[in-house]
Amino acid sequence: MILKVELRDFRNYSSLDLELAPGVNVFMGKNAQGKTNLLEAVAYCSTGRSHRTPRDRECIRIGESDAYIRLYYRNEKKVTRPGAEAPVDLVELQLHRTGSKAGLINRVPCQKISDLYGLVRTVLFSPEDLSLIKEGPAARRRFMDMEICQVDKVYMHYLMQYNVVLRQRNQLLKDIARRAGNGEIPSDMQAMVQVYDDQLIANALPVIERRRKFVELLERTAPPLHARITGDSEEIRFTYEMNVPSNPDDIREELTMAFEKDVRNGNTSAGPHHDDIGIRINGTDVRTYGSQGQKRTAALSMKLAEVRMMEQETGDSPILLLDDVMSELDESRQTFLVRCIENHQTLITCTGVEDSIRKMQKAKLFHVEGGVITE
Ligand SMILES: Nc1ncnc2c1ncn2[C@@H]1O[C@H](COP(=O)(O)OP(=O)(O)OP(=O)(O)O)[C@@H](O)[C@H]1O
Ligand SMILES: [Mg+2]
Repeated sequence: MILKVELRDFRNYSSLDLELAPGVNVFMGKNAQGKTNLLEAVAYCSTGRSHRTPRDRECIRIGESDAYIRLYYRNEKKVTRPGAEAPVDLVELQLHRTGSKAGLINRVPCQKISDLYGLVRTVLFSPEDLSLIKEGPAARRRFMDMEICQVDKVYMHYLMQYNVVLRQRNQLLKDIARRAGNGEIPSDMQAMVQVYDDQLIANALPVIERRRKFVELLERTAPPLHARITGDSEEIRFTYEMNVPSNPDDIREELTMAFEKDVRNGNTSAGPHHDDIGIRINGTDVRTYGSQGQKRTAALSMKLAEVRMMEQETGDSPILLLDDVMSELDESRQTFLVRCIENHQTLITCTGVEDSIRKMQKAKLFHVEGGVITE
């Protein structure tokens, strides 16, 4: 549970010291006042990066050279940082205009930003998350990766390695196209392709295996939620659509078969970086044929399942960050969502107090205006 959020020169906050309630915290304010910025800050500390921009320096208040986010945390599970005794109760992220950033756990700098992952676990619901089905496969891969990385550091390691090797291989493919054209590929380059292929396969296999497990758990967790939201009128099913089979020989074969095309495109076409999740409602592919409302409801079921799964896998309740999602849902879905979040520490933003929020009895209400938050 987050006890306090401290911001210095983060986005439009020059200085913020905000004590949070253990339950639902509602942040109300007009447009462009800093509601999303606050949620972004919390999510930032949980994953080491912004969900809105890959450029960290955009988050430093204009005109300033450094920023930090501190989350004071009550660590129910007594999670410790590797090699330390004391439970983690302070997570800090420092951003510098030079582009460098640093993570600190209990005031001790960590080696890599990714060490922050999994300490303060969050599930973010933004309007974009409700477009999870409408968007392309990349959004659904992000959905898988955001959850799995927070509960499984080994997965995160393989995924990061996979992405590094993939970038190197793609660069090599471009170099080959430039040097060899349509002619013979130099033998040193051929040998390099072999090396990258081996590394790619070694990292792809555990990624695929873990994603398969994730979708299996999703398939058990989301359908009952979806049935409840839709009053049993819809049956939702999920399948893991892997781009390559999960055995080394088959992946190698796919890479070899696609090699010429890949050189032409400067891109690797086979591998888990093209995975997807198949989603069917009453037997029909909702990605292609679903109505707007069906897609949004399916996305809501998946996000709520994500919360459950994280709880099951860690024995701890994640912090929920709901950015302006109530207005995207009809009344019955709002009521359902409210019932699901009431037992979690939640930060929720809105521009006006909607009825569903009014019904939450124990919510703590804040007003956000121009980077200042008052209770
Ligand atoms: N680096 C920065 N320095 C100073 N101000 C910034 C910075 N980045 C963003 N802002 C300001 O923050 C404000 C946007 O804040 P935010 O996105 O949190 O709005 P919001 O309250 O969520 O609004 P909405 O209801 O429209 O979503 C804008 O006015 C923007 O100019
Ligand atoms: Mg906003």
